[in-house]
Amino acid sequence: MAQLNIDISKLKPFTDGQAWSDMQKEIDLSHHLLTSRSGMGNDFLGWVDLPVQIEPALLARIQADAEKIRKMAEIFVVIGIGGSYLGSKAVIEALGNEFAGIRGGSGYPHIVFAGENLSENYHAHLIELLDQKEYAVAVISKSGTTTEPAIAFRLIRRHIEEKYGKEEARKRIFAITDASRGALKKLADSEGYSSYVIPDDVGGRYSVLTPVGLLPVAVAGYDIRELVDGAVKMREVALKSSDFGQNPCALYAAARNIMLRSGKFVEILVAFEPNLLYVIEWWKQLYGESEGKEHKGIFPAGVTFTSDLHSMGQYIQEGMRTLFETVISVGEPATTLVVPNDPENLDGLNFLTGMRLSDVNRQAELGTMLAHVDGGVPNIRLTIPTVNEHYLGQLIYFFEFACALSGYTLGVNPFDQPGVEAYKKNMFALLGKPGFEKETAELRQRLL
Ligand code: PA5
Repeated sequence: MAQLNIDISKLKPFTDGQAWSDMQKEIDLSHHLLTSRSGMGNDFLGWVDLPVQIEPALLARIQADAEKIRKMAEIFVVIGIGGSYLGSKAVIEALGNEFAGIRGGSGYPHIVFAGENLSENYHAHLIELLDQKEYAVAVISKSGTTTEPAIAFRLIRRHIEEKYGKEEARKRIFAITDASRGALKKLADSEGYSSYVIPDDVGGRYSVLTPVGLLPVAVAGYDIRELVDGAVKMREVALKSSDFGQNPCALYAAARNIMLRSGKFVEILVAFEPNLLYVIEWWKQLYGESEGKEHKGIFPAGVTFTSDLHSMGQYIQEGMRTLFETVISVGEPATTLVVPNDPENLDGLNFLTGMRLSDVNRQAELGTMLAHVDGGVPNIRLTIPTVNEHYLGQLIYFFEFACALSGYTLGVNPFDQPGVEAYKKNMFALLGKPGFEKETAELRQRLL
C-alpha cells in the first residue's frame, strides 16, 4: 500500500546545505534518544509501540461495545478535553459526511462532544437535545480530575440517571481513565461502569490509538483496525532509520527546526479539505503542548483553504515573513462531481466544463503554493493518497513521531505540559476553592 509522502522541494531554496548536514547529526541523536528511551520524559513513550501492542481482544471488546451503543443510542456523548477528545474528533470529522447531522439515517449514532469548554449555553443546548434523543456517554479523563469534563459529567450523569433510572444509566455510561488513580476511576468502580484503561505511559495528546480515540471512532462506524494498521506501517518506517532519505518523520522534524533557526517561528498547517479542520486542531495541540515551553518552540497555527485564502491569505502572502506552511495534500476524493456547462456562460467559467471539482481544488493548491513561496513562505507538502482510516493512522503516527524528534532537537521534554497548570491555579483561586485563600485574595485584588 502506498504511503504518506513528504516533499520539501519548495522549502529547500530557503535553506543552505550545511544546515541540513548539521541537522542530520542532531536528528540522529534525537532518534537515538527516542528509540533507546534515554531522552527526557521517557516514562511517557508508551505510544511508540502502541500500534503493535494493541491486543486483538481489546479491539474486539471496543467493537462489541460500539455495537451495543449503536443499538441503544442515537447520540453518543464524548466527554473530555484536550487529548481526551481532539484525536477522536479529528478522525470522525475527517471520515464523516459534513451533513450527517442534518441528514440522519446513517445507522450510526451521531457523536457529540462535551466538557471541552465551560460554556453554559453549549451544555444547556446539549441537555435540551438529550431530552429528546436516546443516548449513551463516554467520560474520558486520564487524570480523572480535570474540571471541565468533571462538570460536564456531573450534568450529564444527573440527566441520564433521571431519564433512564440508575440501573439503565449505568449500562449507558463508559469510563475511560487511569488504571488505578483519580476520582473517575473510583466512581467507575463504585458505580460499576464499563471501563477502559489509558496506559500510564501514554500522555493525553498521544492517546488517540488507545480506547480514548478508538471507542468513539468505532461507535461512529469507522474501521479501527485499519486506523491502527496505518500507524503500524508508519511506525516501521519511523523506527528503522533516522536518515532523511528514508524517514519522513525525521525529515519533517529537521525541516521544522531549520525553519525555526532561520526566524520562521510560525508554522501554518494547511488543508484544502474542510473536514480536515480537526486534524489541524489535534496537530495544534500535539505540537503546541509538546514544544511550547522554556520560551521556545514554533507557534502552530492552522487554516483551511480555499476559504481562508479570502481572509488569512492576505497575511500569509504579504504579512510578517516569520511563517512557513505545511500542506496536507489529498490525492483522490471518494466522490465525483464535475463543473456543469452553462449556455449563458456569464461567469466565463465554461472552460472548466466537465472538470472535476477536485482538479480545480488541486490547481488552487498548486497555485497557492507557488504564490506563497514567491512571497517568502517556505512550503512542506505532505501527501496522502486519500482520506481513509489507513492513511489517517499513518498521518497520526507520522505527526506523533516527528513531534517527539522535533521536541528533542529543540531541547525540551515533548511529553509534559507544566504551563497548563497556571490557568487552573488562578481559576480555582478565583472560584474560591478551599486551600487557595491567599491566592484568592491576591487575584481578586488585582482584578479590582
Ligand atoms: O495532552 C495532555 O495531556 C492534555 O491535553 C490532556 O489530554 C488534557 O488536559 C485532559 O486531561 P485529562 O485526560 O487528564 O482530563
